[in-house]
Amino acid sequence: MNNVKKITDGIFWIGGSDRRLARFENIFPIPEGVSYNSYFIDDEKTAVFDTADITVADQYIENLKTALNGRKLDYLVVLHMEPDHCSLIDKVTALFPEVTVVGGKQTFVFMEQFFPESRDYNKLEVKEGDSLTTGAHTFSFVSAPMVHWPEVLFAYDATTKALLSADAFGTFGALDGGIFADEYDFEKQFLDSSRRYYANIVGKYGVQVQAALKKAAGLDIQMILPLHGPVWRKDLNVILEKYQKWSTYQSESDGVIVVYGSLYGHTASAAEKVASSLRDKGALDVKVYDVSGTDVSYLIGEVWRANKIVLMCPTYNGGIYPPMEGFINDMIALGVQNRTFALAQNGTWAPVTGKMMSEKLTNLKNVNILENVLTIKSALGTKDLEALNGFIDAIYNA
Ligand code: FEO
Repeated sequence: MNNVKKITDGIFWIGGSDRRLARFENIFPIPEGVSYNSYFIDDEKTAVFDTADITVADQYIENLKTALNGRKLDYLVVLHMEPDHCSLIDKVTALFPEVTVVGGKQTFVFMEQFFPESRDYNKLEVKEGDSLTTGAHTFSFVSAPMVHWPEVLFAYDATTKALLSADAFGTFGALDGGIFADEYDFEKQFLDSSRRYYANIVGKYGVQVQAALKKAAGLDIQMILPLHGPVWRKDLNVILEKYQKWSTYQSESDGVIVVYGSLYGHTASAAEKVASSLRDKGALDVKVYDVSGTDVSYLIGEVWRANKIVLMCPTYNGGIYPPMEGFINDMIALGVQNRTFALAQNGTWAPVTGKMMSEKLTNLKNVNILENVLTIKSALGTKDLEALNGFIDAIYNA
């Protein structure tokens, strides 16, 4: 059944939600699903901004045909060439062979790479400052390189004051019927997913996001239309302020996340005690995670939220417990900044991971690695209380 939603005068959502895909980019678990947004322009000329993922192909084509209502498609605009929005380009151009595909120079290079056997399309190459007029709407293109692909374009419609923002301001999470953020309790339903999406997919590119935000600040934006998740038409500052914070690596909370690795439960027990002691001390926001049982994308999302990160790690094969090493490597790859780290090491005969983790964490910018390392020999006991208290004090006062 077709499912077309009006966004504003002349702009319609024709995307689809996917609740069957287990992992986005075959990495990130998405139990909450994901939406692929595509926007149809109903004007003197017809246009779509981006297509959708192959997983919602049938729904997408049905929506597109419904929106066209027998008209031909004049323009297919590609804001970036990632397949979750572009895998249907070949299908759409086959259905509407007279369509003109609009994109940046590099977009067309990537298009040929992704569709090496496809026939030639009508192409219109655009760059920042260029515009596309469909009649009542004129879309100006704004370059947003590395947010999060090199060739990303935003499009701004001066008529409706809508910014089509590609992946920026997007989120994991299928839509539950509503298309607007104000139809949901955004904080409850989407904020964690939005942060996890940002941190893992865009988090590395804070400088580039800052540059895009500065360009956006020069536009009178009344609506934000991202490629995933709900559209913003009210309270835009909610998401803009989050992006400002996330892209400058500022935490949202003076909270602590305690992430432990534990083979048999002893480091886990110590982590519970650390969390409990922090609460007793007065910390209000403390969360505990088993690094082996928590997908690293959730840990990364939490790193973007909280200010202090406690890593509690056993020695394994003379090195860092592998899941913990993976988590640290991910933080390095994503360029985490401005956080405080506290380290605890556990080893029955060689508790050495404090130094090893510390050395790896020095790859991060502007981080405070507390000198006070808690050492556990197999299991935490009453003999360790003084050391534990010192460890807790150091974290609480950092
Ligand atoms: Fe949602 Fe960069 O693709």
